[in-house]
Amino acid sequence: MPTPLSPDLRILESVALAPYTTFQIGGPARFFCEIHAESALLEAVQFARQQGLAIFVLGGGSNLLVSDAGFNGLVLHLAIDTPARTTPNDRYVDITVPAGLDWNAFVLQVCEHGISGVECLAGIPGMVGGSPIQNIGAYGQEVANTIHSVRALDLETLTFVSLSREACGFAYRRSIFNSTHRGRYIVIQVTFRFDATATPNLTYTDLAKHFAAQLESGQTPKPMEVYDAVRAIRYNKGMLVVEGEQDSRSAGSFFKNPVVSSATLDLLAANLAIEPTSIAHWPAERGQIKLAAAWLLERAGFHKGFTLGEAGISSRHTLALINRGHATARDIATLRDTIQQEVKSRFNIQLEQEPVQIGDV
Ligand code: EPU
Repeated sequence: MPTPLSPDLRILESVALAPYTTFQIGGPARFFCEIHAESALLEAVQFARQQGLAIFVLGGGSNLLVSDAGFNGLVLHLAIDTPARTTPNDRYVDITVPAGLDWNAFVLQVCEHGISGVECLAGIPGMVGGSPIQNIGAYGQEVANTIHSVRALDLETLTFVSLSREACGFAYRRSIFNSTHRGRYIVIQVTFRFDATATPNLTYTDLAKHFAAQLESGQTPKPMEVYDAVRAIRYNKGMLVVEGEQDSRSAGSFFKNPVVSSATLDLLAANLAIEPTSIAHWPAERGQIKLAAAWLLERAGFHKGFTLGEAGISSRHTLALINRGHATARDIATLRDTIQQEVKSRFNIQLEQEPVQIGDV
């Protein structure tokens, strides 16, 4: 006999997932449940086990491509939003935040307190719980730099555990949660540790340009000023989700920036008969080089505003694929495959999809 569910756990059937994603794409979830407390999470997981259902954890839906067939399991929409707890000490400020808090709202609170550490990550859509999964990063900051620990439900042991920053195995757009231990943990809370004496790092080109005058006169902008600048830069690149704007029906960057060896960069330059310095690139981990996927796309003929049926490329940033209005997941996948094949055949570089995917598309 299955255990009866407690009255405050409402498991809905056949819920359309498209409205829960910024792409506005995707079929229905067979079962769907909003989670507001740890106890409810445990109970919903047990329900899925009893019914033999796969689980998918949905946060802000901003980095997600759901197949047109939807998901034949239980979607858990994490909405745990108990208040944040702040613990200041001599030099550090620790802030413990529930997974269901809107990421930008959290960044704003931190900046308003004059604390530096996440200001460059302003305007990233989604919730706090999603931030460690793909180690969100922008304008020279990665969330891994300020995460102290992550509280999660371990689905192997059905216990709540605390994982240190080291245990999370962070790298560029990577953590144990989206690689070696994919599907094992459900993140429910993140503790950040901020150095109260830190000041914003403004080395990333777009920000250095924005603050050139201030920096020249020896002034360091406050976190709140950087917050505003980053949001303005993101807006101009169509990387701020604005209700009703076509460029916002996307999942942000659709491809990761490829990390390659310096030999690959030289080969690419030789094949294109240009200097390596003319190719957009930056130093990456372990002596490797990060190429700008957007640059490769443009060289392969995929420009801003490119369209393929109902799918397209943002009019403001080449790396964002968009739903022009009535795109299916298949339409997006067709554009993705077209781009990947062209980039592979021209440059011998395999672009990797960045958004998480549910089902085959
Ligand atoms: N570029 C183009 N065309 C464009 C845009 C960019 O050719 O339309 C080339 C330029 O050479 C430019 C370079 O690409 O210098 C880098 O562009 P940008 O600074 O806009 O950053 P990105 O590498 O395209 C990454 C992240 C973004 C993040 C920005 C800012 C990835 C996959 N993407 O994009 O993150 O906001 O840097 O730091 O790492 C996301 O992950 O969804 C995301 C939006």
